[in-house]
Amino acid sequence: MIDRSIQESDVQKLLAEHAQLRDILDTVDSTVNELEDATGSISEKIKDLKLRLQKHFSHEEAGGYLHEALEQAPHLTEEAMRLLKEHPEFLQELQEMSQWIDQSRKQWHTELKSRFRRFTERFLNHEHHENSVLQKAFDEDIGSND
Ligand SMILES: [Fe+2]
Ligand SMILES: [Fe+2]
Repeated sequence: MIDRSIQESDVQKLLAEHAQLRDILDTVDSTVNELEDATGSISEKIKDLKLRLQKHFSHEEAGGYLHEALEQAPHLTEEAMRLLKEHPEFLQELQEMSQWIDQSRKQWHTELKSRFRRFTERFLNHEHHENSVLQKAFDEDIGSND
């Protein structure tokens, strides 16, 4: 039973990974907002971000942190599955943004700023929900061991 309980360190690992991703998003956001003529640089940063997110999503999907949480709190499964289904949408959006920058369409910079802002809002909302699923499961797990 102890083996199956959610480890505080796992919760902390996911929170730390989310915090790192927030920093990366901040950096990309600054680049997007400041460097109007640095098409190549922005495109590279968005491609790097996509690789980071692919890795992060595969951690979450490969029976990692959320999986443990759901063993302890199966009623959160639907919420967690809905979150996991959003992963390909984020990757698709980044893919489209980088292709679109590479094609250097007119007005790319203004549109990219608002598109990336929408992406960031959705993504941070996603991460926030994951934190809350994990936190709820962890709190219930702790409660059940009292
Ligand atoms: Fe996720
Ligand atoms: Fe996440």
